[in-house]
Amino acid sequence: MTVSTCVSTDKINIGRVLIVGATGFIGHFVAEASLQTGRPTYVLVRPGYTNNPSKASAVKALQDKGAISVHGLINDKESMEKILKEHEIDIVISAVGGANILDQLILLEAIKKVGTVKRFLPSEFGHDVDRAEPVEPGLTMYKEKQKVRRMVEESGVPYTYICCNSIASWPYFDNTHPSEVLPPLDQFQIYGDGTVKAYFVAGTDIGRLTMKTVDDVRTINKNVHFRPLCNLYNINELASLWEQKIGRTLPRVTITEDDLLAAAAENCIPESIVASFTHDIFIKGCQINFSVDGPNDVELGSLYPEETFRTLDECFNDFLVKLQTEDKPAANEVPTKTHVVEPIPIAATCA
Ligand SMILES: NC(=O)c1ccc[n+]([C@@H]2O[C@H](COP(=O)([O-])OP(=O)(O)OC[C@H]3O[C@@H](n4cnc5c(N)ncnc54)[C@H](OP(=O)(O)O)[C@@H]3O)[C@@H](O)[C@H]2O)c1
Repeated sequence: MTVSTCVSTDKINIGRVLIVGATGFIGHFVAEASLQTGRPTYVLVRPGYTNNPSKASAVKALQDKGAISVHGLINDKESMEKILKEHEIDIVISAVGGANILDQLILLEAIKKVGTVKRFLPSEFGHDVDRAEPVEPGLTMYKEKQKVRRMVEESGVPYTYICCNSIASWPYFDNTHPSEVLPPLDQFQIYGDGTVKAYFVAGTDIGRLTMKTVDDVRTINKNVHFRPLCNLYNINELASLWEQKIGRTLPRVTITEDDLLAAAAENCIPESIVASFTHDIFIKGCQINFSVDGPNDVELGSLYPEETFRTLDECFNDFLVKLQTEDKPAANEVPTKTHVVEPIPIAATCA
């Protein structure tokens, strides 16, 4: 008898997904991807989201694609139990932001109580927090993520940790959502000597590939590492790539290790958290200084060799199109606008 090793045979079933944080930066990529797979996709939205026009339109766009919105807070155990039961949720994916990591402990209590959730993906979507050791204040966030990990492991609920590394964009050291802004147009800020490499993954790939893992038996109780070799760049290379796109060279200024540490020590939240991660990535090499060979590690490319990643080159083309669109004057606009991006101050003061 031949035993098939085909990936699709490793699937358990098509489960109902609840996504927490679908109105957020990472969560919306996951929600979009879940809908694209045709799964029943529930999105948990916080009461009062309609008061915020951009959140209301984000939810409406997901609903138009088939998402079912349910109102609730993950730190309200009873209502989460009710939601999980009533909608027979199989898979819970959380993409809550840094300020709400510990709220997931209450969600976990509800998941445990209900007892029918087959997979929980807590809010990770970055580095392997058991390995990386950024300076404060990033360290506090990692300790919270570690605490959630330990409680999840103790609970017996099957889990998957998504370690997707950096989102494809210019890695500004003070911006939590860097792919929402263009790469620099005035000067590059190069961290250290600019030679330390990192992995960059398009937001759409973070969503799409996360969804591939959620009912794959090979990812149960594993750290899934995204390491696309095609997108392994240092910041000097990233700057050159952007220069090719815009057709001109820009001055490069050095942001030293001490500058990054000083920005972290300012303790402005969330900017200083990003500075501490930037230090960890581009000075200490936290994405590349270990091999993915522990008993709990799996690498996405070896799980799904048929899958390709969007290249950084393609992602930078998108930024170029955005730049050209933004620079184009509207029909009724006087064309005086030039696109100027202010240099980022190194030692911004906290309010
Ligand atoms: N790899 C990378 O480059 C990268 C970049 C950024 C973030 N991340 C990671 O990705 C994860 C998500 O971060 P993010 O920046 O995407 O977060 P975000 O934009 O701040 O979005 C957080 C989402 O969670 C929702 N939320 C927060 N607390 C909640 C609660 N108690 N109950 C229900 N919903 C709640 C928010 O709802 P509202 O809309 O109502 O506020 C929002 O939809 C984090 O673990 C972060 O560390 C990774």
